[in-house]
Amino acid sequence: MASTFDVAKARERFPALKQDQVFLDNAGGSQALGDVIDSITQYLSKTNVQLGASYHTGQISNTKYEEGYQAAAKYMNAGRDEIVLGGSTTQLFMNLAGALQFNEGDEIILSKMEHETNVKPWLFMAERLKLKVKWWVSEKPELKLTPENLKPLLSPKVKFVACTHVSNILGTIHDVRAIADAVHEAGALLCVDGVSFAPHRAVDVKAFGVDFYAFSWYKVYGPHISVLYASASAQHHVKPLPHYFNPTKTLEDKLGFAASNYECTQSIPQITSYLTPILPAIAAHEGKLQAIILDFLNARDDITVHGSTSSDPAVRVPTISFTVKGMGSKKLVEEAEKISNFGFRWGHFYSKRLCDEVLGLEPEAVARVSMVHYNTEEEIRGLVEVLKKVLS
Ligand SMILES: Cc1ncc(COP(=O)(O)O)c(C=O)c1O
Repeated sequence: MASTFDVAKARERFPALKQDQVFLDNAGGSQALGDVIDSITQYLSKTNVQLGASYHTGQISNTKYEEGYQAAAKYMNAGRDEIVLGGSTTQLFMNLAGALQFNEGDEIILSKMEHETNVKPWLFMAERLKLKVKWWVSEKPELKLTPENLKPLLSPKVKFVACTHVSNILGTIHDVRAIADAVHEAGALLCVDGVSFAPHRAVDVKAFGVDFYAFSWYKVYGPHISVLYASASAQHHVKPLPHYFNPTKTLEDKLGFAASNYECTQSIPQITSYLTPILPAIAAHEGKLQAIILDFLNARDDITVHGSTSSDPAVRVPTISFTVKGMGSKKLVEEAEKISNFGFRWGHFYSKRLCDEVLGLEPEAVARVSMVHYNTEEEIRGLVEVLKKVLS
């Protein structure tokens, strides 16, 4: 049962929120928890030594790093051996794309609703292994990836499918469990980009039934580090890439490349212990935030919301993108900045195929307001007033 969410209490945990700035580009990057900042300072001040040593401080560092890995794995319901931490989701997908093994002539399916992070690595893989690429699109107005619009593309030749859990433009939540079931029925593997989902809802890779899943902690109230999950069975398709004398048992062994920054890794328990108790209550709060702005946007004839117009938190997360007839997205943001302290953005946000080819937008693409649990209803009501002025 979801408890009531106390936004004022949550905000106290984020030092950045004490400034005169309303943060509404959270899908770009969230603010960091004070406990994360403190733990990184502590780590660098006292225990910043090379891992693996047996002397006293070395042992403390080893333990802290391992606790970071354990917390990340537990948080996403993965085994310790099934995750690897690294610099970014893009980097981790590139590492995976360089290590996955398929046969020449096999097929892969990529969606056009993606941040380029979940496309480019697989195009690189297709070139490397001589695979055929098939494109998966859900046109307007649905703009939703489903087993139904995937199934016509599936065949015994398809070995790998990649899609997003939530688009960083549209905000609509895709049913990855249903998609994973369809992909597995066809005998392929599913890789999901969870970057825009993870800041808002619990990640449970076993319940999702995915083979690969990644997200970035810098959008989940932590530092700039990301995590990739690969199920134990999917790892059979991963060729280990470590130095020849190192172990090859875990995903970290196979794809780690010593790239999980120590001070960031060891701060992960601070994020998970903050989020785990409040996650069940976040959705309802976010539902209220998105209802405020969507009620305003949906009521105007000159505005198009791209993605679901529903404010139901079961349908979408509060990443809201829109265009205005007669006003470019860049101008809209600039005019709002002139009269307010609301920080939101315009552009394609690296989902360029979606903006150009599926939504058919101008190069300035959308204005995007992306909220998270620490935003308040008062802030969003204030934003609506600013938008009214800019559009008057
Ligand atoms: C949906 C989505 N996927 C992937 C990425 C890329 O993540 P990273 O910067 O960790 O590579 C982003 C970043 O904005 C994103 O929004």
